Amino acid sequence: MTEQQRVHPVSEAFAANAWADKEKYLSMYQQSVDDPEGFWAEQAKRLDWITAPTKIKHTVFDTHSVDIRWFEDGELNVSANCLDRHLASRGDQPAIIWEGDDPGESKTYTYRELHARTCQLANAFKELGVKKGDTVTLYMPMIPEAAMAMLACARIGAIHSVVFGGFSPDALAQRVIDAQSRLVITADESVRGGKRVPLKDNVDAALTRDGTDVVDNVLVVKRTGGDIDWHDGRDVWYHETVDGQAETCPAETMNAEDPLFILYTSGSTGTPKGLKHTSGGYLLHAAMTHQYVFDYKDGEVYWCSADVGWVTGHSYIVYGPLANGATTLMFEGVPSYPSHGRLGEVIDKHNVAILYTSPTAIRALMAHGDDVMDSSKRDSLRVLGSVGEPINPEAWEWFYRVIGNSKCPIVDTWWQTETGGIMIAPLPGAIDLKPGSATRPFFGVLPALVDSEGNILEGATEGNLVILDSWPGQARSIWKNHDRFIQTYFSTYKGMYFTGDGCRRDEDGYYWITGRVDDVINVSGHRMGTAEIESSLVAHEAVAEAAVVGYPHDIKGQGIYIYVTLGDEYEPSDALKKELTQWVRKDIGPIASPDVIQWAPSLPKTRSGKIMRRILRKIAANETEGLGDTSTLADPSVVEDLIDNRVNRG
Ligand code: WT7
Repeated sequence: MTEQQRVHPVSEAFAANAWADKEKYLSMYQQSVDDPEGFWAEQAKRLDWITAPTKIKHTVFDTHSVDIRWFEDGELNVSANCLDRHLASRGDQPAIIWEGDDPGESKTYTYRELHARTCQLANAFKELGVKKGDTVTLYMPMIPEAAMAMLACARIGAIHSVVFGGFSPDALAQRVIDAQSRLVITADESVRGGKRVPLKDNVDAALTRDGTDVVDNVLVVKRTGGDIDWHDGRDVWYHETVDGQAETCPAETMNAEDPLFILYTSGSTGTPKGLKHTSGGYLLHAAMTHQYVFDYKDGEVYWCSADVGWVTGHSYIVYGPLANGATTLMFEGVPSYPSHGRLGEVIDKHNVAILYTSPTAIRALMAHGDDVMDSSKRDSLRVLGSVGEPINPEAWEWFYRVIGNSKCPIVDTWWQTETGGIMIAPLPGAIDLKPGSATRPFFGVLPALVDSEGNILEGATEGNLVILDSWPGQARSIWKNHDRFIQTYFSTYKGMYFTGDGCRRDEDGYYWITGRVDDVINVSGHRMGTAEIESSLVAHEAVAEAAVVGYPHDIKGQGIYIYVTLGDEYEPSDALKKELTQWVRKDIGPIASPDVIQWAPSLPKTRSGKIMRRILRKIAANETEGLGDTSTLADPSVVEDLIDNRVNRG
């Protein structure tokens, strides 16, 4: 039996105590698609509404007018749902357990404390002039203040835009300008794996860029006490501004469709898109998936190892868990520091019951052998989760056997920044697991596979993954660019949301995501547009033309392979390779570091001048046997040269 065919049946003992067993999943799923209005009206009751919604679903997936509204006459406050409503029942329960980069440093905030700190920050925001509807950019380390800042925005009706701390000053500037943020929150430095990242210096550099003068203030958390420059009148210390504030702050009444946050993500073309997520539907989806997919039980410690700079951190470190009154663990560091045993040691130290992490982290540990887990027992674990990219069955089995001691179901969760929350994943008490498959849709999610013309394919087959109807957590638009939203997601296949992913469905109706079918690559679970990296490269004076593709990488899932055509007056050299690598890192951020650069005297193009990426992908993957049809190439000899000079990646 190949690994792909191995099935891990639901354990009866697990199912008996789970939020959903097989029968319950099937009946709830059926109801959610037969009667979405009734289903979601009922589910919405899990939130604390100021005005309960009477209008449940108004969603139009038409190519000309995409209009998505959930609970549109409902009113609530997201921060009150995540904090205030837990005070009476679990005020003294830990809300956030923070584990520092240094294993000697950790801190706990109860719901009462988190509420008080969030209110103080919200009051400070007001003092700095932040109003309902304003945007606030966060460029922060993985510290509790990041969660407080998100919740404080939600409290006063400001819209947060979190920018991952690994992005460059230019990438940050671009996002600050697009969102028109008047306030930026950062820290002097962040610490990861014993290394410091100069966040404040990066903000300073970003704010020298044209168009960033919209920023009035930079609020700075003192994390390390490292040296920073200070801009009087603009920069304000967090502790000086926040600590003296009142510990209560009324929660603004928000409409369910008021924006909660903007989050930028890469697509196949153009600049990063600011996906707009709103309040009611998003929170409901995040909370409900957190409960059912992880089978979260009161009192358990739950750990999502993502960064708050990504959507995973938004939905599954902050909003979903806190809406459910959970204890969420926030980790500042990396699984390999100070040693490769750290992940397991953190689990033991805090009695983690649920661990949600990425295939890339698992593969990196796996590469060090089974004994990397010898320093921990991990007896507290009950459920494991995976997200960000397809998990190969080998890594799945290792995760199951070595990290989970062969007793924890693994939920492989497929979703996207655009979907707000988990879309396809097994409920661990309901669905037999097949390593490598995200299995079945969550309640209310209607996946389908289509061919290139948009015809819906039935049965066991492979195609492009679309979603046929709206779900509450769906992004409503691209910030200030609704046309681009329609164009990107609803114009490829009429009347359907196109995910950009390819997918196979097997004879049991299980979904197997096969990866992006557009020009987006996924490196260590970080999503990047090849066009962004290309435009960075061609901005370098030596580069005449560049093409970027992904190739299979043992640890990262995909690596970045770059073909560069130099200008006439430039000669290939290792020094120039280094320079281009630095260039891209500086321009976009270290996450976009090229893995391989190949000098290409010219690129394979069609007669109309379009680069044939299919061929470049095959060469990068060392699959030069079946290159397919090259007859449409303007100059087929180009391909021979590229194959001959392929860079051996070992
Ligand atoms: C893309 C979305 C979802 C939060 C993190 C990434 C890929 C994500 C899986 C999975 C296979 C996956 C897809 C998707 N992806 N989860 N379980 N199996 N592929 O969010 O940055 O918006 O990226 O990540 O290709 O389209 P994102």
